[in-house]
Amino acid sequence: MTELLKVSKLCIGLKPQTFPIVKNVSFALREGTSLAVVGESGSGKTITCKSIMQLLNPKTFQVSGSIRYRKTELLTMDEKGIRALCGSKIAMIVQNPMTAFDPTVKIGAQIVETLMAHQRISKRDAYASGILALQKMNLPRCEQLMDSYPYTLSGGMLQRIIIALSLIHEPDIIIADEATTSLDVKNQNMVLDELEKMKRNGIALLLVTHDFGVAAKLADNVIVMREGKIIERGTVYDIFESPREAYTKELLKASILKRGNCID
Ligand SMILES: Nc1ncnc2c1ncn2[C@@H]1O[C@H](COP(=O)(O)OP(=O)(O)OP(=O)(O)O)[C@@H](O)[C@H]1O
Ligand SMILES: [Mg+2]
Repeated sequence: MTELLKVSKLCIGLKPQTFPIVKNVSFALREGTSLAVVGESGSGKTITCKSIMQLLNPKTFQVSGSIRYRKTELLTMDEKGIRALCGSKIAMIVQNPMTAFDPTVKIGAQIVETLMAHQRISKRDAYASGILALQKMNLPRCEQLMDSYPYTLSGGMLQRIIIALSLIHEPDIIIADEATTSLDVKNQNMVLDELEKMKRNGIALLLVTHDFGVAAKLADNVIVMREGKIIERGTVYDIFESPREAYTKELLKASILKRGNCID
């Protein structure tokens, strides 16, 4: 299996301080596999994802170490290269689908605009690609969806539209940062099923989650972060069956309690 992403000794600091908020984080991701990143709020999960997507403003953040996509180093890549990769080959799905869309513009117009910003494509072709992408996600009545305002759709529907959009450029890697947290159970399961399908198709998943149930369902491997550091790592089986760190045990216990003792 090809190694798609390799993060080595990643350190992230807030300028002008030198104290890092992410410290020596290393992990690798192979095609068709998934890695869950778990850890309490503020442990550095989102910052790590954003650094992979090159979304951290260099005026604010100092990033060192290495982030390789296939054989290419992203940290030293120029703007043009980054634009070609991040958002297309490496796509990110964020926590709150409600904030990802402009509430005053119809879904179709936003999809067309996004596509036209990334590709040399006519409006009509962008519209057709948009419809096709929504159909691939098994979304119902796609023409009608394109003609809807975001506020008229459920969070689950919007999250599936975001996933559909993120797949348009045939990514190798999907970073899902708490992608199901804001959804109800039915929509959570629908989104998790879609992510599972992607994995079966060879896409590598980096899953950030508070929820060990999500990790159990989708992840092959898990890293546990605390205060910017990886404090434990292992296969999903290792982490669930025999966590070594007290912190991991606590997280696991809290997650199980929250789910009403039900991890499926
Ligand atoms: N734009 C920013 N400016 C300054 N500090 C930031 C910024 N973004 C994040 N931080 C700090 O970096 C640390 C890690 O934040 P991060 O958002 O990665 O946490 P997280 O693990 O994703 O938490 P959560 O589970 O709540 O999403 C936190 O201490 C946070 O305060
Ligand atoms: Mg976060």
